[in-house]
Amino acid sequence: MQLCVALDLPSMKENLELAKELKTFDIWLKVGFRSFIRDGRTLLSELKNLNPSFRIFLDLKLYDIPNTMADAAEEIAKMDVDMFNVHASAGKEAMQRVMHRLEPLKKRPLVLAVTVLTSFDYHTFKEIYSNDIEEKAKQFALQSYQAGLDGVVCSVFESSMLKHETEPGFITLTPGIRPFGEPSEDQKRVADIETAKREKVDIIVVGRPVYKAKKPAEAVERILQNLSV
Ligand code: C5P
Repeated sequence: MQLCVALDLPSMKENLELAKELKTFDIWLKVGFRSFIRDGRTLLSELKNLNPSFRIFLDLKLYDIPNTMADAAEEIAKMDVDMFNVHASAGKEAMQRVMHRLEPLKKRPLVLAVTVLTSFDYHTFKEIYSNDIEEKAKQFALQSYQAGLDGVVCSVFESSMLKHETEPGFITLTPGIRPFGEPSEDQKRVADIETAKREKVDIIVVGRPVYKAKKPAEAVERILQNLSV
């Protein structure tokens, strides 16, 4: 299991300070809406300057018509990121078009599909999708697998089941991780590291429990130690 730290801080300076503090670790860094909208490509290249082996996950959750999604995917691939994501609810055709557009590239980023946002609980989900979370997550995972994506962003509690529905090598990346019982805040379905291991998660995303820790490097070290035992 690998660790991905979310760079969700209020300024580029703070994100870079955090990344600098973590630069000796073998980890992923997640650049999401807040950081990318504000600091764009500059942030991405500064991170690679800090440590070229940082793996960057650009978490922009693309959702649009198929051609626009494929165009966006092509532009993302030019930015030398290692992974990005789309919403599975954009549909199978859109996901297929994304993968088709990336096909000619010598090296392409991994592409994951968001199944169900981890901030949804049963009722809010049903209001939007008129379906159960688990059913819909299964359907979304299957469609993204059939479209040739590399994996899904899902809740810890769905990881093992979604691998079973697709194949064990289909990557699962799970936010909502509270490694040592930290507050869940706005996340509704949170889990600790042991649960993530049991659920065969490939990559855990941790934001606040790392960047709100007094010593983020120590928090990361402790998480990594727990991942390897
Ligand atoms: O601070 P916390 O550990 O809750 O951060 C989780 C990160 O994962 C945030 O950047 C959030 O946007 C992201 N995320 C999520 N749920 C998803 C996809 C991404 O929480 N389904």
